[in-house]
Amino acid sequence: MKTLNIFRKQILITLASLLLFCINSAYCQNNTKIPYLQKTGISKQLILDGKPFIMLAGELHNSSSSNLAYMDSIWSRMVSFHLNTLLAPVTWEMIEPEEGKFDFTNVDSLIIKAREYNLHLVFLWFGTWKNACSTYPPLWVRQNTKRFKRAQSVKGENLNAISCFSTETNKADAKAFASLMRHIKEFDGNIHTVLTIQVENESGLRYMSRDHSPLADEAFKNPVPNQLIDFLKKNRNTLIPEFDAIWRSNGYKTIGNWTEIFGNDADEVFMAWYTGQYIEKVAEAGKAEYPLPMYANAWLDGGKAKAGDYPSGGPVAKMIPVWQAAAPHIDMLAPDIYRPDFAFVCDTFTRMGNPLFIPETSFGSIAAENIFYAIGKGAICFSPFAIDNINRVPLTTPIADSYLLLSHLIPYLQKYQYTDKLIGFLGKKGETLTCDLGNYSLSINFTGNSFNIDTISCGLLIATSDDEFIAAGSGYTVTFLTKSVSKPHAEIDYAYELIYKNGQWIRERRLNGDETGVGSIHNIALRMEEKKLTVKTAKIFSYE
Ligand code: DGJ
Repeated sequence: MKTLNIFRKQILITLASLLLFCINSAYCQNNTKIPYLQKTGISKQLILDGKPFIMLAGELHNSSSSNLAYMDSIWSRMVSFHLNTLLAPVTWEMIEPEEGKFDFTNVDSLIIKAREYNLHLVFLWFGTWKNACSTYPPLWVRQNTKRFKRAQSVKGENLNAISCFSTETNKADAKAFASLMRHIKEFDGNIHTVLTIQVENESGLRYMSRDHSPLADEAFKNPVPNQLIDFLKKNRNTLIPEFDAIWRSNGYKTIGNWTEIFGNDADEVFMAWYTGQYIEKVAEAGKAEYPLPMYANAWLDGGKAKAGDYPSGGPVAKMIPVWQAAAPHIDMLAPDIYRPDFAFVCDTFTRMGNPLFIPETSFGSIAAENIFYAIGKGAICFSPFAIDNINRVPLTTPIADSYLLLSHLIPYLQKYQYTDKLIGFLGKKGETLTCDLGNYSLSINFTGNSFNIDTISCGLLIATSDDEFIAAGSGYTVTFLTKSVSKPHAEIDYAYELIYKNGQWIRERRLNGDETGVGSIHNIALRMEEKKLTVKTAKIFSYE
């Protein structure tokens, strides 16, 4: 009997510890859930430790992170710019100088330093491609052109880029990338300093519209793979119009080789498919080790240029459907925006459910303005390139002001990202924008601001309820127009200037008279015309 009781007691203790273990591991799992993308409305948010995370970021110049001593003075500068995330290259040549022998010293030091400065990291995997060339694979890859085949010209000359048909390089790149991801998991899997990974950099082939190596020529004659055709058929109603036009102009064919189905654009579609498939294999191998969100960035096509003038096969906007079909392990296709039509590019990269992620963009005062549009559009990341360039980037820079203000608005941005309650805008002095927000139609008049380019105004509006708004930015007035037929006029009930103090927004001056403004004969406008970034709130009412 006594033995039976001891036995029962033993079982109870074991059950209790099992229960405790389950509770604990569920708790831990919850707390150690790795950063992931979560579907919201028309797009996805990046979730870090249970909350949406918006990267107010900067990308390091290509060679900076290769030397930790060089980086010494940079970390504190980044903090003084109010960044929360730094994009830093990790190169194949650095981590695998000899085949199969990995060295992650540099990776670990970057992570440790970022933690010290309370920054997150996005690693940029400079593997097979960097700016459509192959200068970052280790020497044992670049020297061995028999094993690691190059793309070739029509004359059969080897180019400075590896061929996307080189299965040996694809395997070696995927293996190196998988080792990197395994290492990041071991080193950072519970802390989440590293949030996202860029797989390769500005892939595609330059100077010609397609690879002419023997393997490429052979593949070009073959039928277009069913996997691509099935994707296009399934998504036919939501295809990017520029891509739809390519397919339509060749009669929406579903059987045939590349030229038969895609006509004059065959080379680019062919390259996009095979470059996407190559990067898919790299991303898949990396995600099998540690599935952080991953993206591929694009050297943009600059409007009318021919494929090859920009890297042919890279993830430019019109190739989004091909890349989505070819590379399902790539979560986002990301534009590097150096063009003046910033807003247009953001718009073209938020189609077919693609979340907006801007890993590179021009620096300078323009970035301080453009970020308002990007964040209003739902951007997960905004990151001026070469943010550490000491010769170009002064110690006080306009982007720091924008980042400071936006970092204080983060709770609102997290809540309203990718909803119809948030808009961002840019405008030239004298222009007007009309749009709907909350219960009202808005007329936004751009009055110019004080950044270097003083004709551009920038702002964000958030509808915190149907008739209450937060306005941020500089250089505009906003008039709220009622949509109600029975109450055709609208005025400001109250407006306040908001000041950020001790971690919260405090109402300061109550604004009326000259501090608001006459929008039209029936309306009163909210003025955001100060020569610095400001934040205000206004409650609107309509009347008969
Ligand atoms: C785009 C590339 O992705 C970056 O690494 C860098 O080379 C810039 N161009 C230079 O402007």
